[in-house]
Amino acid sequence: MSDKKAFPEHVAIILDGNGRWARERGRERTYGHQVGAANVKTIVRAAGHMGIKVLTLYAFSTENWKRPSLEVRFLMKLFKNYLISQLKELVEDNVQVHIVGDTSVLSDGLRKGIEECERDTADNNGLILNVAINYGGRLELVRAMQDIAEEVKAGRLLPSAITEKTVEDHLYPSDAMDVDLLIRTGGESRISNFLLWQASYSELYFTHVLWPDFTEEELRKAVDWFTGRDRRFGGLTEKDH
Ligand code: IPE
Ligand code: IPE
Ligand code: MG
Repeated sequence: MSDKKAFPEHVAIILDGNGRWARERGRERTYGHQVGAANVKTIVRAAGHMGIKVLTLYAFSTENWKRPSLEVRFLMKLFKNYLISQLKELVEDNVQVHIVGDTSVLSDGLRKGIEECERDTADNNGLILNVAINYGGRLELVRAMQDIAEEVKAGRLLPSAITEKTVEDHLYPSDAMDVDLLIRTGGESRISNFLLWQASYSELYFTHVLWPDFTEEELRKAVDWFTGRDRRFGGLTEKDH
């Protein structure tokens, strides 16, 4: 396998452990979210410098609405402030931002922030940054199935013509579908409804480091680990012969 192939082009991260990070310091969970949000900037920059092409960050799941309303409201405000305050730097850093998830239920203010951020970074051709807000892998697939069913019903598509590509075309728009490296901080070894389709052949990296402590060096460690993986995709590699 060539070096180029071994480098992860699409890295996805489940940003977990903000609450515990704050609790360990005797602070409110919201403080952990605040420090965690500041860390996003560090990691986005680092990913760009390292040559990662697409970075997808899981910020809020369709299940996270189950949290106390105060925490949910704090997070929504944080997302809005983050998008607005970071916009200038994202433009300067040539980052192209996309929000993936069901944004229809978000507040008008947050949706406006999302629209502006996507619009103002649309011409950038550096790192592609997908931020998953109100994202659920199952919801994404349900929506895709509904859209495909509508096409069949309208007579534009035969059921037998549905392929993997058809499904991919109906997922949230994102420039690179397959995730090469999926990182989860915070010590849990689960996917929590993230990128169920796109991560079907990802290399999974679980670390106990809590998100606010996940530094550029930790990202490098994960990438280094990835470069040593033998990705067979169900086939054989030279080593197997
Ligand atoms: C991840 O940190 C951030 C979000 C899910 C929004 P958590 O809030 O899940 O922190 P822990 O896992 O409770 O420590
Ligand atoms: C996963 O973290 C979701 C995000 C990081 C946005 P959670 O803390 O919500 O996941 P569970 O509840 O431990 O599975
Ligand atoms: Mg958590």
